[in-house]
Amino acid sequence: MVVPPNSDVASEAARRRTFAIISHPDAGKTTLTEKFLLYAGAVQEAGAVRARAGRRAATSDWMELEKQRGISISSTVLQFPYRGHTFNLLDTPGHRDFSEDTYRVLAAVDSVVMVLDTAKGIEAQTLKLFQVCRSRNLPVITFFNKYDRPGRDPLELLDEVEEQIGLKPTPVTWPVGIPGDFRGVIDRRTGDFIRFVRTAHGAELSPEEIVNPDEAASTEGTAWSAALDGCSLLDAIGANLDVETFLAGITTPVFVGSALTNFGIRMLLDAVVDLAPAPEPRADVNDNERPIDSPFSAFVFKIQANMDPNHRDRLAFARVCSGKFERGMDATCHRSRRLVGTKYATTAFGNDRETIETAFPGDIIGLINANDLRIGDSLYADDAVEFPAVPRFEPEVFATARPLDSGRFKQFRKGLAQLDEEGVVQVLRDPDLGDSDPILAAVGALQLEVFAHRLAGEFNAPIEVRPTVYQAIRLTDKASIDRLRAIGGIRILKRSDEALVALFENKFRLQRLLADEPELTLTPILAG
Ligand code: G4P
Repeated sequence: MVVPPNSDVASEAARRRTFAIISHPDAGKTTLTEKFLLYAGAVQEAGAVRARAGRRAATSDWMELEKQRGISISSTVLQFPYRGHTFNLLDTPGHRDFSEDTYRVLAAVDSVVMVLDTAKGIEAQTLKLFQVCRSRNLPVITFFNKYDRPGRDPLELLDEVEEQIGLKPTPVTWPVGIPGDFRGVIDRRTGDFIRFVRTAHGAELSPEEIVNPDEAASTEGTAWSAALDGCSLLDAIGANLDVETFLAGITTPVFVGSALTNFGIRMLLDAVVDLAPAPEPRADVNDNERPIDSPFSAFVFKIQANMDPNHRDRLAFARVCSGKFERGMDATCHRSRRLVGTKYATTAFGNDRETIETAFPGDIIGLINANDLRIGDSLYADDAVEFPAVPRFEPEVFATARPLDSGRFKQFRKGLAQLDEEGVVQVLRDPDLGDSDPILAAVGALQLEVFAHRLAGEFNAPIEVRPTVYQAIRLTDKASIDRLRAIGGIRILKRSDEALVALFENKFRLQRLLADEPELTLTPILAG
């Protein structure tokens, strides 16, 4: 990224848009990403992202699982310019399972684009992800994709968004033509008809024609009048764009389009510039905001090791919160109070790394071999700062892990420690048993699969993973554990951060306990 020589931090930050695209697998996230790059001029022809993804899968062995399952586990960041702004698009793993990894990405973005397949609406497995955005008050822009295909009535989808996620939809564009006969959209801000024209395979930009309402009425006939009826209804219920409530995560502007045929892509990109927020001052643990132009600060939201089989290194991904990052600068980790090496800083991830020289608020930097860093660590130059912890999510799956070959216990221990640190799973240990018979806690079963795969592949310690009877987890404390142990069906374990947790064989028993013995400490591990 070329930075103008006289740029100052505040104006660089104001040009940043740091966001993620979230969707159910197959709703069109990859296609939309590609089309964003096409419309931003970052690629000349659609197809580049898939090709890139293919290349990565072919050269990265720890991603073998990714290939086998046809999913993307590693998060990447794409940085590209559009309309004088710098977009940081953080990829979220696209799979059917919950993963803490996805949720951590949400801690590092300022907004999200939620893609729904018009034919399917909100699908069960991703509902939780969408609800997390709502609960964290992240601004969400909604894209109804695949309108070129037969699908559901968009009014029905609006209801679904409101009822299931609790976000009030405010359509900015409204389709002309039914799903499968998609002619274009009404821009509700101007009343104009934006007519879309198909191009071969959507590989190139689709021409857009702005047509005034009178002409649209004569050329589009009943499709136009039906679209106008839809708009009147939206007016009547007050479903109008409201930037303030959008920024507060209460309403969601809705755009209708088709990523495959490029319909509506430019309007959506423009919405990211015009509506989505630039980085704002981040509050520290004491709720004091660190101004954007104060000295460099960042927080680590992801650790990833062994992405490149030739290097076997470890990357800490940090989101810049304030100030200017300069490669080689002195940065301190708040937890350890140690200096962190910034000489090896990278911008593009996966196998296509590029050294990063400078970065501004909103940007993501990858620090290579910063081995002391942990998820949630705060980094700073000059004035110390500690940002709140990256939210952890309540594990719902609990399993035991044992090395298949007892001669490889040392490797097993090493892998356990590293993958716990990376946040692949949470490792819970019995204080009396140490590393034997740990319990792995995860938000979804896929995390356990990744864990087992990596222990075998990278640490040469194949393991047996077995489900346990536990159904729920709560944070507890020393004062409560004797009583909890006496009850039965409850196990007390320790996390690597020394926090005590209680595992429950029965969710209902936990509920009863919460009601009957409120003096016990049983705190949810919650999405923040
Ligand atoms: P994902 O990343 O969310 O998993 O979805 P992805 O973009 O891979 O899209 C999933 C499938 O949906 C792809 O088809 C893609 O071409 C198709 N698709 C995406 N957007 C649209 C759209 O606006 N309209 C229509 N009709 N289809 C769309 P595929 O057959 O699985 O892959 P491919 O053979 O096209 O590559």
